[in-house]
Amino acid sequence: MRLKWTKQLSVGNAIIDSEHRNLISIANNARRAIRARDSFTLSQELEHLEEWLYVHFANEGKIAQAINFDFSQHKLAQQCWLKELWFLRDELACKNGLWSDDAIEQSCHFLSDWMIDGHIISLDMLMKPVLQTYDYNFLPSMTGDATHAVVAG
Ligand SMILES: [Fe+2]
Repeated sequence: MRLKWTKQLSVGNAIIDSEHRNLISIANNARRAIRARDSFTLSQELEHLEEWLYVHFANEGKIAQAINFDFSQHKLAQQCWLKELWFLRDELACKNGLWSDDAIEQSCHFLSDWMIDGHIISLDMLMKPVLQTYDYNFLPSMTGDATHAVVAG
């Protein structure tokens, strides 16, 4: 089943919500590639996911700083998530698509758990009470082109 962003996952900020929708879309693409045992596409999607996670984590950090939210717990979790993602990527890459049914289920479950429960619900939701005191479209000054989110196909 595809991961889906719903209003219940809103953290109260347009940029963060938009980026979460984008990340969920990429995670869905990666899950589809895992189930299809398509190692090449999976490697592209995980690379794409990693690139967007860097953008997203940087933007969340800027927003947290602008609203005076203690972001230290987030930073530690984000480092762990990236390490887990690299571990998953390496585990799957070394078998080059010859993944067991169990490995496929565990990998898809990991991406789902990690994206929705671990990332958005357990951690980013902690910012919601503070973000809700700001306009939904609140956007601190950000540099570069990292503020836009493109929904992956
Ligand atoms: Fe997030």
